[in-house]
Amino acid sequence: MANVNLTIDGKAISVPAGTTILAAAKANDIYIPTLCFLEQLEPHASCRMCVVEVEGARTFQHACAAKVREGMVVRTNTEAVRKSRKLTLQLLLSDHSVDCHHCLRIGSTKCADLDPKFCEWCFFCDCERDGFCDLQNLAREYEVDQLPFEQKHNQYPVDASSVIVRNPNRCIKCKRCVDVCAKVQTVHNLAASGRGSAVKIGPAFEKPMAESRCIGCARCVEVCPTGAIFVRECKDELLDVTHTYGVKSVAMADAALIPELERIWPRKKEAVTLEQIVGSLRKLGFQAVVNADDMRALAAAETEKRLDARLKKGSAIVIDSLAAKKLLERDYAEYADRFVFMPSAAAVFGIFAKDALGADKTAVFGAIGPEASEVYETGCADFAMNARELYRTMVRTGAEPNPQRAFAPDAVEFDAPSGKYGKLLERVDWNRGLEAERFELTVGRKTYQCAICHNGAQLQAALDADIVRVIA
Ligand code: SF4
Ligand code: SF4
Ligand code: SF4
Ligand code: FES
Repeated sequence: MANVNLTIDGKAISVPAGTTILAAAKANDIYIPTLCFLEQLEPHASCRMCVVEVEGARTFQHACAAKVREGMVVRTNTEAVRKSRKLTLQLLLSDHSVDCHHCLRIGSTKCADLDPKFCEWCFFCDCERDGFCDLQNLAREYEVDQLPFEQKHNQYPVDASSVIVRNPNRCIKCKRCVDVCAKVQTVHNLAASGRGSAVKIGPAFEKPMAESRCIGCARCVEVCPTGAIFVRECKDELLDVTHTYGVKSVAMADAALIPELERIWPRKKEAVTLEQIVGSLRKLGFQAVVNADDMRALAAAETEKRLDARLKKGSAIVIDSLAAKKLLERDYAEYADRFVFMPSAAAVFGIFAKDALGADKTAVFGAIGPEASEVYETGCADFAMNARELYRTMVRTGAEPNPQRAFAPDAVEFDAPSGKYGKLLERVDWNRGLEAERFELTVGRKTYQCAICHNGAQLQAALDADIVRVIA
């Protein structure tokens, strides 16, 4: 494809025709703020945060949607642009509960007075997303202190019926969750209803999440730029348990936490290790900590047997999360004879910790949301905590990962899987793309076409493979 030459903030750049201004800027290290835009999906261009000036254009352009043109001159950070973005933020925040923006300790609502380092230590804020919120970050960046508009003070009920909790008072209607639920997961649980300022985002017919089509995959949580949708938190109950004398608490720690912890901990200089996480969990009060990889190996050994039996009859679909199970049982029931259930690490851990280690209470420290859904829905463990909540708990209790406090996970004896199904049954990182991972696998004298799918959209396109693994 031919290249287009343009200038962004005085920098001459050349990008393929059809590129958006946002992508061109990003490829050249020029920052443009966004709220509604999601990589890999069609832009809505609805939030107006990404507006830029284009020479010759009568109005601001949305960088996430406008395509580059030959000779274009773009300015991303003029006073007028900044003023427009600030106005957008003021409008969004005037229809928002802003739980985090009235600091009782510092006694101010002024951004300049708030000290992010102090916020990390403080227990006072009400919002689960405080410190990790795109809207809050932008409000700070654009110094949105006083709101020149009447505050709406909405009091919509919070839906805590499921592990995926919705707080509509913090929703900015960016529709990222709607898109990811429909186009990536193919579940179509969330939708916008109403018009104009009365738009509401939620399940059809305003059903509670527990009664909706939701499969508990937490993809919506991952993309929500605010605290409007989040995974149920448990730190207070969990700390109560680990500090109760006579209650044996056992944790499962996952190395998959490490990249996520390092991402949300920008000030941390040394690399985080699994041993340091084990040390932190011991400091939090857990008497034993097992490695999630060991539990996964146990699950893989069991799944190998089930897969061997299935492949004697024909092709197989390996289902390894509760979210995937719900999706397949509901939307792909005609393939039920191919289903092979792979127990999750959390499920194996729950049984192992109680039977082999005599645990009274168990907690799973995983990196992704579906595990939390499974823990709370099936009761396979007592608590589940993601990287963000673990980070805040560690920081607030002085239990941060520390090279001086590093311990190996507790040793676990088990029959290891043979490994003949290779990566098909190994840990895989969550792939946010829309394409399944395809490969050939030879087991004995047979070669299978395999696909690993990370969402509903990938699954739809991969059903022709001999062995499909689904992680929804
Ligand atoms: S969603 Fe963000 S801006 Fe809103 S209260 Fe929570 S942290 Fe603050
Ligand atoms: S958890 Fe998954 S299925 Fe449920 S609403 Fe969110 S994206 Fe949709
Ligand atoms: S719940 Fe979050 S992702 Fe969904 S529309 Fe509201 S703010 Fe956007
Ligand atoms: S990110 Fe472009 S309009 Fe929202």
